[in-house]
Amino acid sequence: MRVVSTSSLPIDLAGQVTARFESAAVVVPDHWIGVERCDLAEADALVCLLLDRIDASVIARAPKLRVVANCAVGYDNVDVDALTSAGIALTNTPDVLTEATAELAFALMLAAARRLPEGEALVRSGTWQGWRLDQLLGIQLLGKTLGIIGLGRIGQAMRRRAEAFGMRVIFADPHAPGALSIDQVFAQADVVSLHCPLTPETRNLVNAERLAAMKSTAIVVNTSRGACVDEDALVDALTGGRIFAAALDVFAREPEIAVRLRSCPRLVLAPHIGSATTEARTQMAQLCADGVIAVLSGSRPRNLVNAEVVFRG
Ligand code: GLV
Repeated sequence: MRVVSTSSLPIDLAGQVTARFESAAVVVPDHWIGVERCDLAEADALVCLLLDRIDASVIARAPKLRVVANCAVGYDNVDVDALTSAGIALTNTPDVLTEATAELAFALMLAAARRLPEGEALVRSGTWQGWRLDQLLGIQLLGKTLGIIGLGRIGQAMRRRAEAFGMRVIFADPHAPGALSIDQVFAQADVVSLHCPLTPETRNLVNAERLAAMKSTAIVVNTSRGACVDEDALVDALTGGRIFAAALDVFAREPEIAVRLRSCPRLVLAPHIGSATTEARTQMAQLCADGVIAVLSGSRPRNLVNAEVVFRG
């Protein structure tokens, strides 16, 4: 039995797998090497990151593969249908990163509303002249309306935080009772925060028309997937002063960040760190190990994405 990881992990995958399957070989590199560089010829299980594109070409290299454990909650990097047709289970890492991601989204909302990066740059520049009555005026969140796109686990965690801050919450979600349309949320909200997966329906969900429909004091926050936002339209809206600010943790072509984005005013930038707490990342890796061990033991993993795959115990 062979388990291959495309990356180092904050848990002892080899120890855990061999405790269950004594003769298993477990290959874990000391950093992320990418699935292209992994030898999958004998692999029964693969642990990968959202940086790894898992598609038919990977499956073709891995004739014995039974499970792919994607160390992320989002799995738009994976061709799920191709795995399902090949009878390969896919697991992801929900729940354990919910609070970390909501905390980061909340931090970005606060940073954008209170213009923290501008303030920090001013202090660091050594040119700050001291307190001014009209300096770096931001937007108060108390009493404002947060519009959540995607009221799943992370969206709900964001909602709890916003309500504790005295914000009113509206949302768009095809599965949530009481939801408004996406257009209604953009028109009514003071802050729109994205918590949806990337699908054909959500690609470029934040576009020029919706940005134009927002209040001039509005803020956009994205901790979901970069391609949910039309980045050119967002830069145009910010440089034209048509919305107040935005904050992005994710980008359409990571790790490439267009110069227009890097130099855009009123735009808070973070390097895809939504789940980057020690707690969340450790538990994400643990869920991957649990999924691999479950499938190799013939049982159904807790976080199975493609429920159509059949398990023989
Ligand atoms: C991170 O972006 C994830 O999907 O877990």
